[in-house]
Amino acid sequence: MVLKDIDSLLALVQDDMEHVEQMLMSCIDTPVEVLNDICRHILGSGGKRIRPLILLLTARFCGYRGSDHIPLACVLEYIHTATLLHDDVIDHAEMRRGSSSAHRLWGNQSTILAGDYFFSRAFSLAVGVGNVRILDVIAHAAQCLAEAETFQVAKTGDPLTTEQDYFYIIENKTASLIEAAARCSAILSGQDHTRELLLADYGRNLGIAFQIIDDVLDYQASEKDLGKTIGKDLQEGCMTLPLIAALARGSEEEKAMVVGLMNSRQWQPQDIAAVRDFIEKYQGTAYAVACARERINAGLAALASFDTTGPKAALGDLARYVMNRTS
Ligand code: IPE
Ligand code: IPE
Ligand code: MG
Ligand code: MG
Repeated sequence: MVLKDIDSLLALVQDDMEHVEQMLMSCIDTPVEVLNDICRHILGSGGKRIRPLILLLTARFCGYRGSDHIPLACVLEYIHTATLLHDDVIDHAEMRRGSSSAHRLWGNQSTILAGDYFFSRAFSLAVGVGNVRILDVIAHAAQCLAEAETFQVAKTGDPLTTEQDYFYIIENKTASLIEAAARCSAILSGQDHTRELLLADYGRNLGIAFQIIDDVLDYQASEKDLGKTIGKDLQEGCMTLPLIAALARGSEEEKAMVVGLMNSRQWQPQDIAAVRDFIEKYQGTAYAVACARERINAGLAALASFDTTGPKAALGDLARYVMNRTS
């Protein structure tokens, strides 16, 4: 099955997801009107809810019978939402989830603070669950995220950015939270250490593939499907895998052309087209997709060695969705 659509996976956990949606909205309640407005704007404008989905599906896979997976799914979506608000300020993004980005509507100051508010709501919900190991996993993911986003800023426009730098960034800014989702389920449901690590491995590999595909989509997707501006990474000097791979293979002359454009940062449509052609000449996006596929296979292998009779099909479908998504 080629799964491009997330809806059939969301349908599997529909009841849980409805509770998550209710809690996401009801836990945002502040007397500061502008804060409510920003929070409702970003939560209400869609989003795939993939982190809650991974937590709910892995919790089900682990046979979890309690109710703490609902607030924990909200914790992950709140942290993710906080990072989106901050990330759009950093990346000067005009669009998010098919709508104007929050900082364009409310300005950078209130938007950054709304991100902080989401972080604080996330930690208060996580404390409510009362499991120190889970708190540790979540706090660690948030720390990794901040470190990697900062490192990425430091690497902006740097043509010497290596594949190793890139994988450090995506493993920490994106995969850390997706790994945390799977790991929280393992801890909640009392899996032994080996199984906890296998689930974490599944989540981390999916998260890495998820970000590689996001970076490929930034070059190739339809703007309408993605709900974000296409070509933004290049214009912002963000060195992602398709470009890194092409730079590693291109001639000195071609590299100088790309570096010159990145330094000038006055992107004209023909410049963007030239870099895209360069990437395609060296099959940069095909290489990135192949790397994502390797990670998906590693994630599936972790799951295959997970010794259980629990249903694995949905987690396999989820991995295939990550690989084939167009939005
Ligand atoms: C966007 O995440 C940021 C990345 C880590 C690539 P999503 O693609 O999960 O964004 P939403 O939540 O669906 O809008
Ligand atoms: C993901 O990176 C950002 C975070 C994990 C915070 P991107 O910068 O690629 O995300 P988009 O493309 O803006 O959604
Ligand atoms: Mg961004
Ligand atoms: Mg992106």
